[in-house]
Amino acid sequence: MANEEGKRRAARAAMRFVEPGMTVGVGTGSTVAHFIDALAEVSNDIEAAVSSSEQSTRLLQERGIRVVDLNSTGELALYVDGADECDPQRCLIKGGGAALTREKIIAAASRQFVCIIDPSKRVEVLGKFPLPVEVIPMARSHVARALVLLGGQPVWRDGVVTDNGNWILDVHNLRITDPVGLEAEINQIVGVVTVGLFAARRADVVLTGEGD
Ligand code: A5P
Repeated sequence: MANEEGKRRAARAAMRFVEPGMTVGVGTGSTVAHFIDALAEVSNDIEAAVSSSEQSTRLLQERGIRVVDLNSTGELALYVDGADECDPQRCLIKGGGAALTREKIIAAASRQFVCIIDPSKRVEVLGKFPLPVEVIPMARSHVARALVLLGGQPVWRDGVVTDNGNWILDVHNLRITDPVGLEAEINQIVGVVTVGLFAARRADVVLTGEGD
């Protein structure tokens, strides 16, 4: 199955978790774009959306879905988002689209996290996809040196500024056998805003767009 069709099917499958009157947490990326299309078909039935990026906010608003601030909603019942890699324990690498910080905030603030991916995102061990780390700009070199000590090869995503005004390091050559441990370790490096490992708060449900 082509990746695009897998993304579309996974996104459509997530609609079974959407209930009338919900305020839905919405992630970022090409798979989520399919989910936003599906959500637009029920825009009159849902209350609103909380968006994880300027990109998703634009798509939601263009399709007539009201976007509200997370500070005004309390805990969300549902968060739907894609991923760059997903292991068998539902731990994820995210941040290929540089939206990892807001994505992690909404995931933390949601009771259920439904992850939508095409089958190519499934891996046995995380780390082939370079691990995104959002950093405060002045800490870029300091954080990069610390990541080298952890065995990675950080590469600055030159020219990319996140929605929060920060920079991204993509860490190559990691074989992440302990995602929870590595997430905690990278979180401890001063200057790190967010690491794109979603392990402590991982997905509750993963939909891969295969079969039923
Ligand atoms: C955005 O920062 C990411 O976390 C996305 O969720 C991830 O990159 C998946 O994107 P696609 O659905 O475009 O593959």
